[in-house]
Amino acid sequence: MQSNEIRARFLTFFEKRGHAIIPSASLIPENDPSVLFNTAGMQPLVPYLLGESHPSGATRLANSQKCVRTVDIDEIGDNTHATFFEMLGNWSLGDYFKEEAIEWSFKLLTDKEEGFGLDPKRLYVTVFEGDENAPRDDEAFEIWKKYIPEHRIYFMGAKNNWWSPGDNGPCGPDSEMFYDVTVEGLGDMTKEEYLKADDEQKIVEIWNDVFMEYEKKDGKVIGKLSKKNVDTGSGLERVTMVVQGKNNIYDTDLLQPIVHQVHKVSQVRQVTDGNERVERIIADHLRTSIFMIADGVVPSNTDRGYILRRLLRRAVRLSHTLELSCGLEELVGSVIHIYTDSYPNLVKDAVRIQNEIKKEEEKFRLTLVHGMKEFERISEGKSELSGAETFSLFSSYGFPIEITKELASERGIVVDEKGFEEEFKKHKEISAVGSEQKFKGGLADTSEISTRYHTATHLLQKALRTVLGEHVFQKGSNITAERMRFDFSHGEKMTDEQKKMTEDLVNEKIKEALPVMYEDLPIDEARKRNPIGLFGDKYGDVVRVYTIGEGDKKWSIELCGGPHVKNTSELGHFKILKEEAVSAGVRRIKAVLE
Ligand code: SER
Repeated sequence: MQSNEIRARFLTFFEKRGHAIIPSASLIPENDPSVLFNTAGMQPLVPYLLGESHPSGATRLANSQKCVRTVDIDEIGDNTHATFFEMLGNWSLGDYFKEEAIEWSFKLLTDKEEGFGLDPKRLYVTVFEGDENAPRDDEAFEIWKKYIPEHRIYFMGAKNNWWSPGDNGPCGPDSEMFYDVTVEGLGDMTKEEYLKADDEQKIVEIWNDVFMEYEKKDGKVIGKLSKKNVDTGSGLERVTMVVQGKNNIYDTDLLQPIVHQVHKVSQVRQVTDGNERVERIIADHLRTSIFMIADGVVPSNTDRGYILRRLLRRAVRLSHTLELSCGLEELVGSVIHIYTDSYPNLVKDAVRIQNEIKKEEEKFRLTLVHGMKEFERISEGKSELSGAETFSLFSSYGFPIEITKELASERGIVVDEKGFEEEFKKHKEISAVGSEQKFKGGLADTSEISTRYHTATHLLQKALRTVLGEHVFQKGSNITAERMRFDFSHGEKMTDEQKKMTEDLVNEKIKEALPVMYEDLPIDEARKRNPIGLFGDKYGDVVRVYTIGEGDKKWSIELCGGPHVKNTSELGHFKILKEEAVSAGVRRIKAVLE
């Protein structure tokens, strides 16, 4: 049975039992600032679970909801975790309760005609053992006993069998269903054996029925809701895995074609377990990124965009490890193909999605290799990387913490994650442009003053080309918070007059308060604008072009990754301190902004 059939059977089953089938909400929650993405099927339904009536008028709902969970990111690539998944769910809004919920869960899982035909002998169930908030769930236990031998039903505490979407909202005891995925079959197990089997991923959770009759505020259960609700959630990837007789989700038809495609273009042929996991991670992160972009997320350094950026960049770095023979965007088709029928919007949006992925990949590839070298340099002989070091890899080379952690763990080095978070918060504003920084820009940091100096190099280069001639090109630059150094091609010492003219020209452009803008353009498009650029460098197909001034005040056009100030008026007064030779045909200017 293919995943499309499984999804369809789930919905039809509940439709027949009076449920309104509602579409999946966007991954981006509406009116819910508590989460960046929908992480469970019930999330978009919270108002109705709290008592509001559903717009459809129905009190029974079912759907397949797109979800993203990145809290488990370290577990991605194991047998059961993915950052994106679909959650099949059915809900009762003050309608049916435990009796029907459990009966239907069991029937759908095991029935051959209407359901998935799973082997009931491989099913295990947990129910709530009770605590100060709610009594032991004997009711659920009694109902389950009609379908499953008593000794395969285990009582568990709130840690396992109490579900709430966070510190606030509707919640309640739950009952979870597990399926035995071993070849030999585990048979009857004591609770201890069951717990061990769970640890060893010999059984896998496939469905959760939450009996939502309580409400939480600030982490505390404050009482009962006006209605008793049911919220169930079953991960499509996991159900597909057990229905298809696999022991991991990456072998199902939802992920296998993607992993296979990654494997095919991988040029690192020695397939070890390690390689396989890397292929899975790339497949997972790519799939999640595609769904995020389809729902309107774009890579950035804040909130949702930052999560997307981290996933994409990790996939880029791992595709570098596997030496994939193509870019990630060429793998997009293998993902979308799987969802042609279930998410036709992906097909319609394929070109935009591909472009977005390509843009981010190319941007990151500009700094990736240099960042890895920098990582080697700063980590040599160390057993721990500080928050500041980890953050500098992010701000200067666009390395999300996951990449640094991965590189570090390969070398037995620890990363101060908390320190990184602190630095990140401190630099939040600045880091919004930090990873855009061009690796050869020579910025020592991304502080505001350095950014001003960076813009000054553009004004200076243009001024030098105006005063000395078109043979002048930037050969390098180095910026600190105190001064800038700018190396350029020119054969002779500059005269005092030339220096004065250059300085005046830069100050004139500062006074004119010219806007600084950029555009990301395909390289051919960019070339037409005739920018000053480092043409010796390897650029990706899409490049960033910075323009200072507009209309007839257009002054400089440069290929550059940024960051820059928004307006030249922010620079202050420009002063040349020194002009000297660096090597044959290369001169250096030291200058300050006052
Ligand atoms: N909300 C529950 C879960 O996410 C059941 O849907 O597991």
